Amino acid sequence: MIPILVMNLILVVIAILLVIAERCLVSYGECKILINKEKILTVQGGNTLLNYFADNKIFIPSACGGKATCGYCKIEVLSGGGNILPTEEVFIPRKEKLKGIRLACQVKVKNDIEVLIDENLLAAKEYNVTVLQIQDFTHDIKYILLRLDEPQKIEFKAGQYVQFKVPETDEFRAYSIASSPLQNGQLELIVRFVPGGLCSTYIHEVLDVNDKIILTGPFGDFYLREDSMRDIVCIGGGCGMAPIRSILLYLKEKGMNRRATYFFGARRSRDLFFTEELFQLEKEFPNFKYIPALSEPKPEDNWHGETGLITQVVERFLNSNGNTEAYLCGPPPMIDASIKILTQKGVKEFHIYYDKF
Ligand SMILES: Cc1cc2nc3c(=O)[nH]c(=O)nc-3n(C[C@H](O)[C@H](O)[C@H](O)COP(=O)(O)OP(=O)(O)OC[C@H]3O[C@@H](n4cnc5c(N)ncnc54)[C@H](O)[C@@H]3O)c2cc1C
Ligand code: FES
Repeated sequence: MIPILVMNLILVVIAILLVIAERCLVSYGECKILINKEKILTVQGGNTLLNYFADNKIFIPSACGGKATCGYCKIEVLSGGGNILPTEEVFIPRKEKLKGIRLACQVKVKNDIEVLIDENLLAAKEYNVTVLQIQDFTHDIKYILLRLDEPQKIEFKAGQYVQFKVPETDEFRAYSIASSPLQNGQLELIVRFVPGGLCSTYIHEVLDVNDKIILTGPFGDFYLREDSMRDIVCIGGGCGMAPIRSILLYLKEKGMNRRATYFFGARRSRDLFFTEELFQLEKEFPNFKYIPALSEPKPEDNWHGETGLITQVVERFLNSNGNTEAYLCGPPPMIDASIKILTQKGVKEFHIYYDKF
């Protein structure tokens, strides 16, 4: 009997040979990609829609860099896209399947193809930026200040994100903008180090002041709903601070005309940042409250604030009168638990907005 390891090795070799054979032997010739019934890209088939879009400066969100793990690169394929792949199934519910929604990173162009791309995505651009400042915020989070060189301004909504191109690769990663949209000649990001992670390691270990970087964007449905006057509750953890800070700075610049409470969860006091700035905001605007909480405080933290999981603190403090909207950003378990508590407290699910990462 052939051991499983050898079998797996043989299968991997066959898969690699098939890919090489396809690249060398199969030519799809010239194919046309018709976008939104007006723009035509003429390409030599064989690559993915996502790559052809990027080659033509059409920037579709692709937080995982085309690995089919983020599900952000959704577009509508009207014809010519072939069958949906197993890698797409998990991201595309039945309703979207019927509409022809696909992952642009998984659709290979083998013939003429017609697609619809959301007009908001077509507004995303490429930005050349320079690193002005890098600062250690916590043991694993860095703050980065960037100047926009070309174009010199970016229009975005408070809460949205940009994609950072890892130099000398075709890989992009998503980072929420931590600064206000009204400060549109500079961007602030906060990046947590993920051990072994391509982009976060680059940012933490290689990126330096004066480096030139490429960003694309802005992207994302997580942004402040400005047409509402509901009370706001924000819940964040880790780098989930970034888009919520952008929202709060924007509200501040607009006069903080809505009641807002920000619950921020961390393990230890060393994991807190922007603390002074947020307490200062509380002093300036009595209708804003900042409630940081530590889940694992040690005596040396000398912590006199709230303790417990941030969701427990929300449960203790939040009084919703049914006229509240919520902005959540942080790790998936924190978001899922927060949604449960918020809905129990009477916040309507369609008034809860979140970004999980
Ligand atoms: C909309 C959006 C906004 C984001 N905003 C921010 C932000 O403001 N600040 C920020 O630091 N990050 C943010 N992220 C996460 C960021 O895009 C990257 O995923 C993260 O920096 C890791 O990328 P990497 O290239 O270093 O790791 P990769 O090379 O992509 O991954 C290396 C390994 O780490 C694992 N991994 C990836 N991400 C995480 C994680 N977060 N925690 C634990 N393990 C992980 C992967 O599964 C893989 O095994 C955001 C993500 C999204 C989708
Ligand atoms: S780029 Fe992430 S799923 Fe397509």
